[in-house]
Amino acid sequence: MRALLYRLRQKIKTRAKNKKIFVQAYAAFKKTGTTSTEGYTALLDLYCSSNGKFNEKIHKEIIVSNPPKKITDSVNGIIGKISPADFTNINTILNKDGYYNFDKKVNPELVSKIYNYALKANTVTAPLYDKKIVFDPKNPISEIYRFEQNDLINNTDIQQLIMDPVLINVARNYLGCEPIFDFPAMWWSTAFLKDASSEAAQLYHFDLDRIKWLKIFIYLNDVTSENGPHRLIKSSHLPGAKPQELLNRGYARIPDEDILKHYKPDDFLVVIGDAGSMFAEDTKCWHKGTPLKSGNRLVLEFEYTSSLFGANYPKFEVKNISDEFKQFCINNPIYASNFTFKN
Ligand SMILES: [Fe+2]
Repeated sequence: MRALLYRLRQKIKTRAKNKKIFVQAYAAFKKTGTTSTEGYTALLDLYCSSNGKFNEKIHKEIIVSNPPKKITDSVNGIIGKISPADFTNINTILNKDGYYNFDKKVNPELVSKIYNYALKANTVTAPLYDKKIVFDPKNPISEIYRFEQNDLINNTDIQQLIMDPVLINVARNYLGCEPIFDFPAMWWSTAFLKDASSEAAQLYHFDLDRIKWLKIFIYLNDVTSENGPHRLIKSSHLPGAKPQELLNRGYARIPDEDILKHYKPDDFLVVIGDAGSMFAEDTKCWHKGTPLKSGNRLVLEFEYTSSLFGANYPKFEVKNISDEFKQFCINNPIYASNFTFKN
């Protein structure tokens, strides 16, 4: 009993200390745009010790000064026309499940343009991180090939998607504020390793770069049970929904056998879909990519956030820019606040 009380007191003390560090780090971030290492570590600890409640509370405080634009008409975008009622439905499901699978697909022409770019563009991969290479589907040398984010930002087809008003409105509704475009990511996954790779995020984990965010994933080739479908645990993004026993491991990757004990079989979702399929996820949900049995998988991912507090990444340098994208960024300074422009 005495030991239990002692542990409880220690926990309360640590949480109070972390809150103080966070408040100081957030105040400094507002002035400098940079997050201190201690501030980010405090955020991670507070997420785990409060089972996500801390992030929700802070997010609500942050968005007060950044109210969302009111969109009352239908919006036309890469998946066609979405009505206000559709947006409400998407947001309700996203809040409940942490996941929404769009029934409409991304324009096939755009998908094939980006797919063809991915076959020719340089990637970085372990163990050759210092050397950019082109992915050879017939001769993979790694389980994952990542595209550099600055290269993606400078691709005008990807800029087209970044400007998509449907995606932005989904993020706006979910975050309850004007979203910031945080980053694009794109990568090939291969069957090079047959076992789950931590490097390729093939063990269950949650993301925590920011206080609150939303990710959009677009499959750029057909994804079946063979070539590494995305998996997630429905509703595990909700505050209080993660087993404390697992959160006590911190910001860690969790073996399947440990996760399986805590959730019902129905909560485990596997996302299969043809090229152009798109889904949104709050990746506070436990999630992972399935190790591939054969073939390869090409995924494009965007992250939208309410604040850039958290992991420190350099701002993106946009050099190759369409006039439309330039104008769009001028008109949407909050959304484009993570971009810098050359010329
Ligand atoms: Fe992840």
